[in-house]
Amino acid sequence: MSKLERASFGSKLGVILATAGSAVGLGNIWRFPYMTGQNGGAVFIIIYIFCILLLGIPCMISEFIIGRHGQANTARAFRKMSGGSIWSVIGYMGVLTGFLISSYYAVVSGWCLEYIWASLMGKLQGDPEYISNYFVTFSQDPVKPVFWTFLILFATYMIIAHGVRDGIERASKLMMPTLFILLLIIVAASCMLPDAQKGIEFLFKPDMSKVNGDVFLAALGQSFYSLSIAMGCICTYASYFSKQTNLAGSAIQIGIIDFLVALLAGLVIFPAAFSVGVNPDSGPSLIFITLPNVFQQAFGGISSLGYIIAVLFYILLSMAALTSLMSLHEVSTAFLEEEMGTTRKRAALAVAVCCIILGIFCSLSLGSLSGFRLFGMTLFDLFDFVTGQLFLPMVGFLTCIFLGWFVPHKIVRDEFTNMGTLDNGRLFHLYLFLVKYVCPICILFIFLHQFGLL
Ligand code: PFF
Repeated sequence: MSKLERASFGSKLGVILATAGSAVGLGNIWRFPYMTGQNGGAVFIIIYIFCILLLGIPCMISEFIIGRHGQANTARAFRKMSGGSIWSVIGYMGVLTGFLISSYYAVVSGWCLEYIWASLMGKLQGDPEYISNYFVTFSQDPVKPVFWTFLILFATYMIIAHGVRDGIERASKLMMPTLFILLLIIVAASCMLPDAQKGIEFLFKPDMSKVNGDVFLAALGQSFYSLSIAMGCICTYASYFSKQTNLAGSAIQIGIIDFLVALLAGLVIFPAAFSVGVNPDSGPSLIFITLPNVFQQAFGGISSLGYIIAVLFYILLSMAALTSLMSLHEVSTAFLEEEMGTTRKRAALAVAVCCIILGIFCSLSLGSLSGFRLFGMTLFDLFDFVTGQLFLPMVGFLTCIFLGWFVPHKIVRDEFTNMGTLDNGRLFHLYLFLVKYVCPICILFIFLHQFGLL
């Protein structure tokens, strides 16, 4: 392909599946269920739906607009849209956030691979204490997690190096439907357990007494994370959209897919957990400690259904992680390729090597390097904090302000309506209102609240 001819997704389905692949990840299957568990079940879900509609989807459309308008990596797309002004900084921040996140996301994705292996080998069988120790010993090991991080980054590199259509689009078209089918199989198994309806009730019956400010903030943060907003991914993928892609329509479809997957993950975890009397609010350890126990108790150990369910579950988790990791990797690859004028393969390799180096430090910071702290945090926690709590809200906030208040509305409208060829002018006004007022205020609120300033 000549330098002038920019890569693009080949079909509408490719656009939806690749972008949904970025959105659907550990956040849906791991973070959403435990956030729901900790924040009162159904009430959290209702608030979450509002957050997706009022905040997540408008922010996603904004990134689509900037990415497709720029037809370039995130940094250049912001530079083009802002005419090279100070607002270009947001693009660079997005690229940096995407890069930093990819190294620690790769570490957790590597854990999922280990769990496929461990469940295949029948190693996740034993009493709860054994399973809990298994995770602690594994995550603190100096070699094993690094090996799996390397492996998942290698797989990501191979896909990204093959390009947008032959790599990202093809892999997404294969993995996303597989993931969905696996999820449905496990949901069916989980919902057929005795007492499963208690878990289903927990998920669907709202308990208004649980509503407080923190629940809103948790839902807001989760909607951002889950839709991969403010990390350059959505903007970069949008630069591969065609001029005919309906941006608002696509964002809505992706929002629905993302929500459905999260809900189905809840329908795996809660019915199974309630059927064996385990409390599903155990926080981040839910997926690596609580679930292996639950699967084993609910479906039986090795040589029974529990074995198959565990293997399938970790395969699906790894696929979800991989499609998200691809999008994170693509942010930096597109940046290097276009800004340094190098080839895609070289850029992808450079990103993979840098990620593995940072990933090694992140991984070791949970074990042998746990004594090494910056600002009182391990490297793993520091990355999580800097990206999730600082950069993510900042990039999201600035993107809304930039697009809502500084970019000429004609440009925004032309992208939104595909140069007036779509009949969605009214939706545009709603979108503009949300991006100008509702989104920035909500994001500012989360940002200040998390530092105890509100
Ligand atoms: N949206 C992904 C998830 O739910 O796991 C996580 C993620 C991927 C966040 C890519 C940000 C990102 F840029």
